[in-house]
Amino acid sequence: MKGLTTRHFMDTLCDCGEPDEYISEFLRVHPTAIVTNDIIDLIENRKSVADLSIQLLGKEPEHFLRIAKELQRYKIKSINLNCGCPMPKISRKGVGGTLLTELNTMDDIISILSNNIDIPISVKTRIGYRDPKEFDIILDHLMKHRLSAVYVHARTVKGMYGEPVNFEYVKIAKAALRCHVIANGDVKTAQEAVNIIKETNADGVMIGRAAISNPWIFRQINELTNKAKVFIPAGEDYLDFIEKLQNVSEEFSLTDFQKTSSMKKYAIPIAEFVDPLGSFPYYIRRATTLQDLTNMCKNFFMKKYEIIT
Ligand SMILES: Cc1cc2nc3c(=O)[nH]c(=O)nc-3n(C[C@H](O)[C@H](O)[C@H](O)COP(=O)(O)O)c2cc1C
Repeated sequence: MKGLTTRHFMDTLCDCGEPDEYISEFLRVHPTAIVTNDIIDLIENRKSVADLSIQLLGKEPEHFLRIAKELQRYKIKSINLNCGCPMPKISRKGVGGTLLTELNTMDDIISILSNNIDIPISVKTRIGYRDPKEFDIILDHLMKHRLSAVYVHARTVKGMYGEPVNFEYVKIAKAALRCHVIANGDVKTAQEAVNIIKETNADGVMIGRAAISNPWIFRQINELTNKAKVFIPAGEDYLDFIEKLQNVSEEFSLTDFQKTSSMKKYAIPIAEFVDPLGSFPYYIRRATTLQDLTNMCKNFFMKKYEIIT
């Protein structure tokens, strides 16, 4: 997730129990785009040994090819094509989710990569641009290609993040496609992940936001699948996780305000998850210094969290 699943976040996740594979935040493809240092750093210096795919977002096949040729130097699991991003400033440029209205362009990008690049190609899609009825046509296009996996965020592009997810479409994709099909969208708990795999026959689930609010979710899914005792994080586990993320932010020459804003991106979802009806999220949102934020976290996780759980 752009701005959230950085190398440092992934490194911190290593201690919580990792997913089987990662997809990077998107790398924008355009005429002057290059493989950024952030992406190279992620590929070469991450602590994790889990597979990593690099996601590309753009619309010009020739520039995808240029970037993909550069990526061939590195060991990655797949090049993932973003056909799902709904953010207006992105989709306005005809990329991300808007590619679902330009399926021939999507075909051209996949074809140029498959015909010229050794790395497997995967696609992240939504179930339509405006209407899930479009999904049959999207699948017809995807079926023409040799893909390693299709990740289905089971809502439309116009549905942004508010439309209810409909995993029936993941089931349809799994029945139609010969590659791995991964279900995505609003998976919040390990139990939900296990249920969705069972209901849809998907090869796995992709988890975005819940990996921030509950970084132990991957470990919990494995434990649940293997019928082992499921780990329940204590207040100290959350504090330890937040502290490790904070130590990372100390490495950069940022102002205290910048560090506080950066930490809030993680601390707010955590607070909303552990105290959905309480005041912890309210106070975290209003923290003005890193010390403030740390004190609030200590106060909550050392005193109140134990009472709630
Ligand atoms: C802040 C933010 C950044 C995101 N960045 C990306 C991205 O770079 N590439 C992508 O394919 N999806 C991105 N997504 C979408 C997520 O990968 C995922 O499809 C979506 O949030 C639904 O899954 P979830 O409910 O498990 O989070 C982003 C979502 C959020 C909230």
